Amino acid sequence: MKILLINGPNLQLLGFREPGIYGHDTLESIVSHLRELAAELGCELIDFQSNHEGAIVDRIGESVTEGISGIVMNPAAYTHTSVAIRDAIAAVKLPAVEVHLSNVHAREEFRNRSLTAPVCIGVIAGFGADSYELALRALCSHLKKRN
Ligand code: DQA
Repeated sequence: MKILLINGPNLQLLGFREPGIYGHDTLESIVSHLRELAAELGCELIDFQSNHEGAIVDRIGESVTEGISGIVMNPAAYTHTSVAIRDAIAAVKLPAVEVHLSNVHAREEFRNRSLTAPVCIGVIAGFGADSYELALRALCSHLKKRN
């Protein structure tokens, strides 16, 4: 099973970016840990990070022709604004789990609303880098039960 991991804007700065909120782990270290976990779970992880909404929409659209089974995504700021990313997830009809490092519900009001969550099978937020691990485990378990 191939799992697509999508990270949105400013997440390339993890480790440096507001560590009090997002932690000290770099995106590279998170992805490398997830790659190992995916292998243990019998999956292959394909990762993609972009600061550009259209590039993320393109990447989600491509997943249908690539044999991707599911998506783990942290749309970052686009969570709260992007109808296009929401529509892309709905269009490909792949199970997706939304991830946030921080607890978006305990922060500014504009972060309380997610446009993308309603088209995902679930959301994991607030556990720092562990949110990604929990999301990958949840998605793999969902896919295994479904198959
Ligand atoms: C985030 C939360 C978003 O509100 C924010 O814009 C991000 C990161 C998180 O992982 O906690 O860039 O998605």
